[in-house]
Amino acid sequence: MIEGRITRNDLDWWLAFAAMREWTFAKTYAETAPHHYVVQNRTPGVTHDDIVRAARVIHAFGRPGKYYSLTKIYLVSPDGQYRWWTEDRHFTDATLVNRATTELNYGIQNAPSTTSGIETPYDEVATTWDVEHPGKTGEADRVRRILAKVHGKYPPHVLDLGCGTGRVLDLGLVGPERYAAIDFSQAMLNMLVRKHPKVAAVYPMDVRNALATGRFTQGQFDWVFLDDAVELDALQRAQVEQIARLAVIIINGDEWTVHDVSDVSVQGTIALAADTRTAP
Ligand SMILES: C[S@@+](CC[C@H](N)C(=O)[O-])C[C@H]1O[C@@H](n2cnc3c(N)ncnc32)[C@H](O)[C@@H]1O
Repeated sequence: MIEGRITRNDLDWWLAFAAMREWTFAKTYAETAPHHYVVQNRTPGVTHDDIVRAARVIHAFGRPGKYYSLTKIYLVSPDGQYRWWTEDRHFTDATLVNRATTELNYGIQNAPSTTSGIETPYDEVATTWDVEHPGKTGEADRVRRILAKVHGKYPPHVLDLGCGTGRVLDLGLVGPERYAAIDFSQAMLNMLVRKHPKVAAVYPMDVRNALATGRFTQGQFDWVFLDDAVELDALQRAQVEQIARLAVIIINGDEWTVHDVSDVSVQGTIALAADTRTAP
């Protein structure tokens, strides 16, 4: 493992490692939620570094699921028999990994899907992204000030293209109930969902595919955030402007550039892949 980076090698390591360990039955949950666990420095052959690595593997390759009202990221074993999860907010704080059979579910299973089926360079850095990109002091206030210029009458409905781990939500720029996000990295979306389980919608897909298939309609969102890392051609950028009713906000690292599109979007001169759009 390169420090903090999680690749398929780490997944393979975990699958072999988990199979070799002695799993302890969690007696306190015997009636309510039967499961087993391995714990650092007590389960033979398990160190803190192993647990942290396992926590990162689970969050990079797993997918969201519900335990009653809580949203967790679960990794299911290749044979579908087990799922693993950890509980700690920071991966470096983890001390144990839990394991339950997949036979039992708890409560309504309506967690968003993050499975894009696409391998991306962002997958391996997802679990260290937030620590390595802490953001500048006062960033939220600075961005809020420039967004105030394009604020409509009501709280904005927002689409975030290339949302990553959810910086727009982290900064409190919009409410999760009015926020939809696209990203093609399952691991990045997992990070977003674990921090913001109330997110209204996540679309695990390539932005270009969403545009080509007319997934969103003209003026559907008040604000559209577009990360500069999403490579779009001129026509695709024009399509993005059409989806926004008030503004497109380009994010390039610490630079946020607001484009007022309130004129453009009403003109409707550029078709939003109208020929492939499905009926509502
Ligand atoms: C540099 S990160 C920044 C994420 C976030 N906007 C932020 O400011 O923290 C760029 C994100 O865009 C996503 N991305 C890049 N190209 C994409 C595409 N064509 N479709 C969907 N997501 C894409 C990556 O997976 C990654 O999560």
